[in-house]
Amino acid sequence: MQNEPESRVRTAAFYALRDLARGEQATVLTQEEPTLVLEAVNLQLRGRLAWRIFPEGKAWRAEVGLKEDTPPQDVIDLLTRHHAWLDRLFARALERVNKAAVAEAAPLLASFAAGLRAHIAFEDGILAPRLALAASPTGDDPLSVMLREHQEILAQLALLEECLTQDPPDGTEAGVFCALLSGTLAKHEHREENRLFPLWRLSLEELAPAQRRRLLDDLLARLPWGDSPG
Ligand SMILES: [Fe+2]
Ligand SMILES: [Fe+2]
Repeated sequence: MQNEPESRVRTAAFYALRDLARGEQATVLTQEEPTLVLEAVNLQLRGRLAWRIFPEGKAWRAEVGLKEDTPPQDVIDLLTRHHAWLDRLFARALERVNKAAVAEAAPLLASFAAGLRAHIAFEDGILAPRLALAASPTGDDPLSVMLREHQEILAQLALLEECLTQDPPDGTEAGVFCALLSGTLAKHEHREENRLFPLWRLSLEELAPAQRRRLLDDLLARLPWGDSPG
């Protein structure tokens, strides 16, 4: 990747890094310092990457791996990673539902549902009271929006599970509810990551390091990561 315009370096880096699997490392060599390029690629890959940069003669070398191979920084980091984990697992289930392979989708959806419920329970039951934020009287502050959206998500999840527990399961209806939930969840995660999590991170920084560590350990113990989303 020497003497290349930045857009070509970025494209090459994207293709070299997009399929990185757990435990894998890729080396990226560039002529210019690569932080901006890696940040741009990382944005395209939903923040999945972690890297270290070293000068190498007159050029640069970056060792790039997956963020999930590095220990989580704090609860916000772990919740963000768990969003991506839930999304990948749900996408695999949706693929099977759309092929009318409902029986194959069922265990993936069961893992997804358990993970989603544990995630929401932690956000609602532990973080919302611990990292309290002021609520606006109109209810449009990030915390109130999150709490309302969780109710909506849990209601949609229950409808989806109803289709799957019918005998025989209703694959067509399950597909409709999967698509609905997928859209609701994507918007919710985006809002959390961009509006609520930055505020929660500020509140988190006011806690003592030992308290932050206890919250992280608690979340690590509660989140099931049972079925690898691949
Ligand atoms: Fe979340
Ligand atoms: Fe949430």
